[in-house]
Amino acid sequence: MEKLASGIYRFRFGTPEDLTPFRVLSPVAADRRLGELPDIPLPFGEESIGFRLRKGGCLLEIPLSADEDLYGMGLQLKSFRQSGLKKHLRPNSDPTADTGDSHAPVPFYISTAGYGILVDTARYAHFYLGNCKMRGSRQDREGFASAGTEVGHWWIKKGSGNVFVDIPAASGVDVYVFCGTDIRDALARYNLFSGGGALPPIWGLGVMYRAYMYADQRRIEELARTLRDTGMPCDMFGFEPGWQTHYYSCSYKWDEEKFPDHAEMLRSLCDKGFKVNVWEHAYVHPESPIFEDMKDCSADEYVWDGLVPDFSVTKAQKVFGDHHRALAEEGLTGFKLDECDNSDYTANWGFADFADFPSGMDGEQMHCLMGELYQKTMTEIFTKQGRRTWGESRSSGAFAAPLPYVLYSDLYDHEDFVRGMASAACSGLLWTPEVRQADSNEELLRRIAAAVVSPQMVLNCYQVKTPPWTQWDMWKNLEGELLPDADELTDAVRELLKMRMRLIPHLYAAYYRYHECGIPPVRPLVLDYPDDLHLRACYDEFMVGDGLLAAPVIYGRGDRRSVILPGGKWYDVMTGEAFDGGREIVRETKPGDIPLFAREGTLLALAEPVQFVTPETVFDLELTAYGAGTVSCTLIDDDGESLDGTGQALRTTFCAEGDILRATDQGSRYRVVSFKRIV
Ligand code: GAL
Repeated sequence: MEKLASGIYRFRFGTPEDLTPFRVLSPVAADRRLGELPDIPLPFGEESIGFRLRKGGCLLEIPLSADEDLYGMGLQLKSFRQSGLKKHLRPNSDPTADTGDSHAPVPFYISTAGYGILVDTARYAHFYLGNCKMRGSRQDREGFASAGTEVGHWWIKKGSGNVFVDIPAASGVDVYVFCGTDIRDALARYNLFSGGGALPPIWGLGVMYRAYMYADQRRIEELARTLRDTGMPCDMFGFEPGWQTHYYSCSYKWDEEKFPDHAEMLRSLCDKGFKVNVWEHAYVHPESPIFEDMKDCSADEYVWDGLVPDFSVTKAQKVFGDHHRALAEEGLTGFKLDECDNSDYTANWGFADFADFPSGMDGEQMHCLMGELYQKTMTEIFTKQGRRTWGESRSSGAFAAPLPYVLYSDLYDHEDFVRGMASAACSGLLWTPEVRQADSNEELLRRIAAAVVSPQMVLNCYQVKTPPWTQWDMWKNLEGELLPDADELTDAVRELLKMRMRLIPHLYAAYYRYHECGIPPVRPLVLDYPDDLHLRACYDEFMVGDGLLAAPVIYGRGDRRSVILPGGKWYDVMTGEAFDGGREIVRETKPGDIPLFAREGTLLALAEPVQFVTPETVFDLELTAYGAGTVSCTLIDDDGESLDGTGQALRTTFCAEGDILRATDQGSRYRVVSFKRIV
């Protein structure tokens, strides 16, 4: 079949709206060549993608073959493989059913046939991903612009089952097609076109602990001391709402009663090696110092009595940004951007779809763009200072790959949390299956274990006064629950967090690859093995960087974990046991186990764990070569936190041939302390 050449193509149908993700966010292609985007003139577009106006909207028909599988649609917690499903994409804080409501809906999907489709709309679009059985052929469908023959185009299939995208409220739309050599390459092109994957500071790969939301200065200092004294790995320390004088809506002002000397507290946290991050949302309370200035760059509605900024307007970016820059200068490295989605199912907060914004956007468009505009405004603060930031955001959307924010949710189903890693990765997003509290030590350990192999390791303890591993006495009354030994549990948690720290050099290289090549650091197996049909529905196994497969155990499923290994030979990283892949194996697990497998031909670098990373940290590496052949791995040596640092990053390549290990350009970040080979 004729196939479109690898590249990125834009098709224009009807009259696209002025306010779309592409037009408002202006993604900057990370690779200049990707920026040279041919506008494919009709009739090519006519023949391949159908379009028609309908009453109150427009409709696209995009061909789909029966053997293709589709992934993406943004963060989808309830489904991974999207072919055969329908999704009504709408930003939502409570995506409790598989409707398409999401913290981060993205009108984008990728296909196992090696292409991706982005429909450039900031509307609540409806995607019917091969589940509509239409009568007759497309030519028969009255009113479709497409009249040409369907034979001969690489993506055309005969009959029904195509993808339909219905966009009420728009009378035209641009469609971007990302054609690659395979599904992963198509995704990589989308991520590069968006500006390249986000690059965290190296400490962003460590552990984040978010503290009890009502804690005062004394309790915070006590907690920070305890984390250090008990040897718990922790790089980032997060404040939840209670740091402000008012937080629903936000004053963005430290509460001096609870924090009599917040500046000194921040200095002391910083001296202990913590990077401090504070919670907020965007709704500006009347007592905020920026309230008056924000009035004329906000919507005509309030949320929680606060102004709703229009972050697409320069004045809002400046006023909000300047105030936050001053906050950051006191010792903050990032922010958690909460409540930038919208609530339709539970608390019903949020601005209305008919809200009017100074830029001309209505509420529907702003819901689709708010998370990213807010992230961009906040990233700019740190960019201007030449440093990287790393935070969390509860909403995102199209072209979000470069934004240094990880998604999270108030929902807590563990299976959904693990699945979220898979769907997010297919949509240019990062997601953390954060750990809050647990009803048993098993639950706590299983949840932490999954977070260890995720894009960000977050312990969001905003509801618990002390760390969840010290809450063991809560459980003694639960029927059938054994009272765990507090020290034993603390030790087990510490070991897991240390495992995260051991992975940092490997993860940092993976994030660099995301940044430079668009390949997600943690990704479902279908991206690397699209031809293995057994892996197409697999949402709970991940490639973590290069050559390492993680199969986190979902809490509630018992101790037996079946793992589908892709073809080739694989080695259990903990035991060294070898397996022939291309089949399913079963592992017996204990709470806290993370089944990890290295692919034959991998040189895996694990570090001696440090409690936190500093610019001076030297990682002591244990290198293991898997298989008999010559193997290598490349790690990154830069200053770990500046923006300029990336340009000067050294690549340290370790190469193992037989028993000999060589390193090129070793820099100063890594020191090999051991090397072994497992055949
Ligand atoms: C929620 C958020 C939680 C926590 C909480 C504090 O909206 O999802 O992670 O920050 O607010 O009030």
